[in-house]
Amino acid sequence: MAGVCRLLRHAVPRPDYLVTEAHAILIQLCPFAIMTNKFPWYKLTRLPSRFKTRLRERGIRDTVAWVFYQVSWRWYEWRMGIQTDEHGYGVDCPDAGDYNGYEPTDYRCLPTIFNYLGPDFSKSVFLDYGCGLGRVVISAAQHPFRRVLGVEYSEELAQLANRQIARIAPRLRCADVQVIHADAVTFAVPEDVNAIFLLNSFTGAVLEGALLQLRASLRSRPRELNLIYMFPHDYVDRLSKVDWLEAVCELPTQKWSYFKCVVYRNIESQRADQTNEILSSKAD
Ligand SMILES: C[S@@+](CC[C@H](N)C(=O)[O-])C[C@H]1O[C@@H](n2cnc3c(N)ncnc32)[C@H](O)[C@@H]1O
Repeated sequence: MAGVCRLLRHAVPRPDYLVTEAHAILIQLCPFAIMTNKFPWYKLTRLPSRFKTRLRERGIRDTVAWVFYQVSWRWYEWRMGIQTDEHGYGVDCPDAGDYNGYEPTDYRCLPTIFNYLGPDFSKSVFLDYGCGLGRVVISAAQHPFRRVLGVEYSEELAQLANRQIARIAPRLRCADVQVIHADAVTFAVPEDVNAIFLLNSFTGAVLEGALLQLRASLRSRPRELNLIYMFPHDYVDRLSKVDWLEAVCELPTQKWSYFKCVVYRNIESQRADQTNEILSSKAD
C-alpha cells in the first residue's frame, strides 16, 4: 500500500506545479492571441511581392537570410512570451515633430552593442532613451547589468513594456529592470547611469533638452559614460557637433539595418582620468 502511495505521489504532479505550468502555457499563448487579434492581416497579402522584390534586388543569399531572421525573431519572442514588434499590440505611435514614433531595433544589431559594453556588466547601469515596447531593455536585462532602465514618452507603450518585463522577470539576469513613463526633456538622468542607448527616438529641441538633462547629471556626478547613438545612415549625425561628446568608434550594424551606430563618450571624464593619472604619477 505504501508503495502504491509513493508511486501515485510521483506520477501525479503537485497542484502548485500544475498551476505554474498552466500559467506558463497561458503566457506563451497570450502574445499569440494578442497578435492574431491585432495583427494587420492585410500585410500578409503583400508578402509574396515583398519576397519577389527582395529576391530580384538582393539575390537569393540575402533573401534566405532575411526569411530566416523574420522567422527566428518571431520564434524567440513567442518562446519568451513577449511582443516588441511595432504592430505587436496594435499600438499606434506615429512621429510628431521632434518626437519620433516607435520602431524597434533590429535584433541582429544587439549582440554587437552588448559586446561593446561588456564583459563587466555589473559595473554598468543601462538606459534606453525612448524604449517603446522594451525590446532593447529586455535584451539588456538578459545581461547582468547592475540596473536597466527605459524612458518612454507614450504611457501606453511604457505600461505594456512594464507588463512584459514583470511577466518574464524570472528569466532575466538583471534583477532591477524598469520602464519609466516620462519625456526625455524633463527626465532627470539618474546619477548612476553610465551606458545610454538612443535609436533616433527624438531630434531637434527634444534631443537638445535630453542632452541638457544628461549634461546636468554628469556635472552633478562626473563619470565616464558611453552613449550609443543609432540614426538613419543618410541623416546628419546630430551628436557630432556636441562639444562635450567625442565619437569613439562606429559599430558595424549597417549590414542588418539602415541605421548607423556611433559610440560617443563624454570628454570631461577623459580629462578627469588624465588628471588623475598625472596626479597619481606625481605622487609616485
Ligand atoms: C525609434 S523608437 C526606439 C525604440 C527602442 N529604443 C528600440 O530601440 O527598440 C522611438 C521611441 O521613443 C519614444 N519617444 C519619442 N520621443 C520621446 C521623448 N521625448 N521621451 C521619451 N520617449 C520618447 C517613442 O514613443 C518611441 O517609442
